[in-house]
Amino acid sequence: MKFFIDTASVKEIREAASMGILDGVTTNPSLLSKEEGDPTAILKEICTLVDGPVSAEVIALHKDGMVKEAVELSKLHPNIVIKIPLTKPGVQAVRELEEKGIRTNVTLVFSSNQAMLAAKAGASYVSPFIGRLDDSGHVGMDVVREIVAIYGNYGFETEVIVASVRSPLHVIDAALAGAPIVTIPFKVIELMFKHSLTDAGIKRFLEDWEKIKKRS
Ligand code: E4P
Repeated sequence: MKFFIDTASVKEIREAASMGILDGVTTNPSLLSKEEGDPTAILKEICTLVDGPVSAEVIALHKDGMVKEAVELSKLHPNIVIKIPLTKPGVQAVRELEEKGIRTNVTLVFSSNQAMLAAKAGASYVSPFIGRLDDSGHVGMDVVREIVAIYGNYGFETEVIVASVRSPLHVIDAALAGAPIVTIPFKVIELMFKHSLTDAGIKRFLEDWEKIKKRS
């Protein structure tokens, strides 16, 4: 299973990369808007920090505009993957870009039907948004389970990136569903490290070690 980080913060990416657990990065316009500085420069810097796919999203809504933006973004670094929203023009753009050898990540996916369309168009990745589905009263992880099963049934090569992750439980459920990739916000990565028994265990080992030292 691959772990991507869902952020445009160079500081967070640098820290997560130093943990040795990072396989890629996903950004979006909202995440980039939280960071100071030029988005293009930020994306370039991110590509120097992680040796894996870095998703950068197009803004255009029409197919030709999406393709044009995608071609420019893909020139930033070989690891750039183009995020395209699941719309009719988006699906057309995915087909065109993949034929040009530019990898795409179809974003804003909320159903298995949408995921099938992305796979049929030849997308490299598809991103179902779990947290936003949960927020709207649906079980986001059910959609992930469906997509993983459908892709498996037909041997689609599109990889599922479980996105809009809000908690460590989402990461466990994504893994149990057999999703190949999960993109995780920095604060959730930090929470994944934590367990009160680990802290208590370290405390007890150190106290017991002190007892040995006092003997000598
Ligand atoms: C995924 O690629 C998106 O960047 C992200 O996961 C969206 O998450 P949100 O619903 O927390 O904004």
